[in-house]
Amino acid sequence: NDPCWCGSGNKYKKCHQARDLLSAMGGGVARVAGVQSKAVQPYLISPRRSVPASIPRPDYALTGKPQGPRSRTLVKSPEQIERMRTACRAARQVLDLCKAAVRPGITTDEIDAIAHQAYIDLGGYPSTLNYHGYPKSLCTSVNEVICHGIPDLRQLENGDIVNLDVTIFLNGMHGDLSETVFVGTIDAESKRLVDVTHECLMRGIATVKPGSAIRDIGRAIQTYAEANHFSVVRAFVGHGIGEQFHMDPQVAHYYDSNTRGECVPGMTFTIEPMINQGTWGHITWDDHWTAVTADGRRSAQFEHTILVTEVGVEILTLPDGVAQPFQH
Ligand code: MF3
Ligand code: CO
Ligand code: CO
Repeated sequence: NDPCWCGSGNKYKKCHQARDLLSAMGGGVARVAGVQSKAVQPYLISPRRSVPASIPRPDYALTGKPQGPRSRTLVKSPEQIERMRTACRAARQVLDLCKAAVRPGITTDEIDAIAHQAYIDLGGYPSTLNYHGYPKSLCTSVNEVICHGIPDLRQLENGDIVNLDVTIFLNGMHGDLSETVFVGTIDAESKRLVDVTHECLMRGIATVKPGSAIRDIGRAIQTYAEANHFSVVRAFVGHGIGEQFHMDPQVAHYYDSNTRGECVPGMTFTIEPMINQGTWGHITWDDHWTAVTADGRRSAQFEHTILVTEVGVEILTLPDGVAQPFQH
């Protein structure tokens, strides 16, 4: 009945006890047919990190619940777009710091510490921290984890792939991006998965221009993924973003003929395809966050935040100095 060591304020037995027992058992060595690496297992999570009171916070930071209705206005003003640019550029800087730290032996919790400090140094708040109760400052999704992996004390191993999904709240706006990176030397099929997933993101973005259909994004992604014998995750979608972390429109990464809506200059949203080696279905762990592939095979993801412009699309989360690829 003691309070949990993680600082949640909940009783230990209702909080981290089950996970601690699992990791005491060695993390398990479950093997799934056709899967080379050990299954990723729930692991120890470090205590919650704090954010200085001087950093402006999103409305959910205290309660975990976003306040008020989802915004109905999808087109942003020039002033809002400038603030989006700042937030997205900062998110990119945080991601690049995290990427540079990836090596066999580092824990995803150490990457969380790097991200956490980087957001604060930029004057921003880690958007994921306490978002619907999420406990950490970025998502780290290893191997068969599709998305929303929670940074923990597991060390990354040579041959792993890990998606780092970074979101900052800065100047009243969220900027969101992710990349899947290699840990040491990886096998050819994992490399192919990661390369195809990045190309899926770019082909989705390439469809975007004034008047283009939102559903064309998913169509382009699904066509390319399936031509390469991979599958597209359906349960998680891209999203409008701005003052709110997740808002309309929803952006499916597969072709959904029922999806209405078209791209209008001034809209900002993410595209973030999750592509699997095997089937597209998922299972959610008892932590209520970690989504893993149903068949244990690997999954990769890339994400950009984009702006629909008068002439096409601007990727807001590109590194400084990289040319915009799609100015129609
Ligand atoms: N960054 C993720 C996205 O791309 C959202 C993570 S929400 C969290 O939409 F709570 F899981 F962190
Ligand atoms: Co993200
Ligand atoms: Co996103």
